[in-house]
Amino acid sequence: SERTLVLVKPDGVSRGLVGEVISRIERKGLKLVALELKDVERATAEQHYAEHDGKPFFESLLEFITSGPVVALVVEGENAIAAFRQLAGGTHPVEKATPGTIRGDFGLEVQYNLVHGSDSPESAEREVKIWFPSL
Ligand code: GTP
Ligand code: MG
Repeated sequence: SERTLVLVKPDGVSRGLVGEVISRIERKGLKLVALELKDVERATAEQHYAEHDGKPFFESLLEFITSGPVVALVVEGENAIAAFRQLAGGTHPVEKATPGTIRGDFGLEVQYNLVHGSDSPESAEREVKIWFPSL
């Protein structure tokens, strides 16, 4: 089986959607391996989103992700990476995510899209180390 790094972003936490997200993960059949509410340092955010350095939305993304606590999770199961990306829906909550997904059901704007999920085994390994160095 496979592991993926999931974040409930500051908008998801402040809107009280942590339980909703965790519930969907559990009902999908995925297993929670680690879970923590964390304040996000600027350096952690820069590391996490390093692939977007230089893009026009990078600064705004860092400001947003450090604007309040996030819930970080490690989730495990068969095809966990793709399975969580399916639960999350497309990056843009209206243009790409469909109803029935987390972003499709609860989001409106691309930056405020509620959750993050690793996009490949390499990303997952890198991101788990950033958020849970002891794992
Ligand atoms: P993550 O799981 O958060 O990595 O989302 P993703 O893999 O679906 O999208 P991507 O990695 O391409 O972008 C990372 C995050 O940057 C997105 O989730 C959005 O929050 C934000 N983002 C992406 N594109 C835009 C954009 O055009 N404008 C703004 N403001 N934010 C964007
Ligand atoms: Mg991404």
